[in-house]
Amino acid sequence: MAEREPIGVIGTGYVGLVTAAGFAELGSDVYCIDIDAGKIERLKQGEIPIYEPGLTEMIARNRERMHFSTDIQDALDNARLLFVAVGTPPTYSGDADLSAVHAVVGAMPASDRHALVMKSTVPCGTGKNIKRLFEEQGKSGFRYVSCPEFLKEGSAIDDFLQPDRVVVGDDGDWAGDAVVELYRPLLTAEHGGEGPGELVRTDIASAEMVKLAANAFLATKISFINEIANVCEETGADVLEVAKGMGLDSRIGPKFLQPGIGFGGSCFPKDVTALKQLAGNSGYHFQLLNSVIEVNELQKRRVIGKLEKHLGPLVGKRIALLGLAFKPNTDDMREASSLVLSARLQAAGALVSAFDPIAEDEARKLIQGVRFAEDALDALTDADALVLVTEWDEFRTLDWTQVARLMAGTTVIDGRNALDPDAVRGAGLTYEGIGRG
Ligand code: UDX
Repeated sequence: MAEREPIGVIGTGYVGLVTAAGFAELGSDVYCIDIDAGKIERLKQGEIPIYEPGLTEMIARNRERMHFSTDIQDALDNARLLFVAVGTPPTYSGDADLSAVHAVVGAMPASDRHALVMKSTVPCGTGKNIKRLFEEQGKSGFRYVSCPEFLKEGSAIDDFLQPDRVVVGDDGDWAGDAVVELYRPLLTAEHGGEGPGELVRTDIASAEMVKLAANAFLATKISFINEIANVCEETGADVLEVAKGMGLDSRIGPKFLQPGIGFGGSCFPKDVTALKQLAGNSGYHFQLLNSVIEVNELQKRRVIGKLEKHLGPLVGKRIALLGLAFKPNTDDMREASSLVLSARLQAAGALVSAFDPIAEDEARKLIQGVRFAEDALDALTDADALVLVTEWDEFRTLDWTQVARLMAGTTVIDGRNALDPDAVRGAGLTYEGIGRG
């Protein structure tokens, strides 16, 4: 393998660790920096603080190329490109909180041989502001590249190694060239690589906007199909058939047309709101995104109505929630539908039990008053109804005859249309999905 450029990665969350491990796998030495000394210590011991399939193994495989430190100087001494992957959580106003990004910018020395490569999702215009800050601080030689990240939790390693596209926004200088070079093996043959990734090399503002627009569009697709599902429930159509028929139109495509009980996670809710705010702050009222957010909030609550339809008032009813994470194969609870659902159920007087194979520790920090069960069968024992909240594979293969024996009631609400209705009904249970006529 030709010698690969060493890089720094600032922030060891999902994006930072996956980026670091991915570039180490491609042959770079990677200097990972985080202000959390405990986390860095654990990483040095080979303990990975997040659940992401394949990540522990990938880091172990590339252990000697990955260096962990709390001192940003280690990255500056060893690398020209400093990938920034710190959190940009929403503030009360819905704008992204850029304090962690600004802390990194402030810590940079005057240098004309370094560049910040922004992986964190930031509002369009952030790059311009940071370049202005660099100028004001006498660091105008410091380069800036926007390189938004599109990985999905749960399949982050595959997404890194097999990107649909790599977006690089820069001023056409050495730093942008160097970032493209790093990604080269993952790009298509047309771009000199042997991977599937198309390259979009553009200006900084456009690169920033690609990320926000892509996430907002995907969220819009989900809210759209959720509303179609709700109409299907009124009209007797089956949304799965409708989505299949729609998705075969190549202009629409089959992905992100799965109705359910709302989208969550660290990106969609935050980025939709951030784009709405960004538009609003620049004087444009982005009407559509208000609806995308509102539909998503209402969708989380529709389960309550479904339960009441089957059980009457929920006071004293036992409800089992299967799955708590915002989606399968992650322990991430950020903006998970289970947060709203468990709170609403308890407010309605229900007794809630819950099980998640991986996210329980995270869930315990956020959800009160719920009985955390040993496993799925324990959660649903004596339950009047069960709600599938997150479609972990192990719930698809439950023995429904055993489930029927253990439950006190018969109601099964499949919040992700992931179960086999015939198998559930065959065990004498009542099945209701989302938008299934
Ligand atoms: C998303 C984007 O997909 C990714 O490109 C970006 O970098 C970060 O945000 P992620 O949040 O990891 O990734 O999860 P994703 O698989 O996109 O799912 C987000 C939410 O949408 C989940 O709650 C999921 O259950 C929901 N979803 C997804 C649906 O309800 N229906 C669908 O058809 C797809």
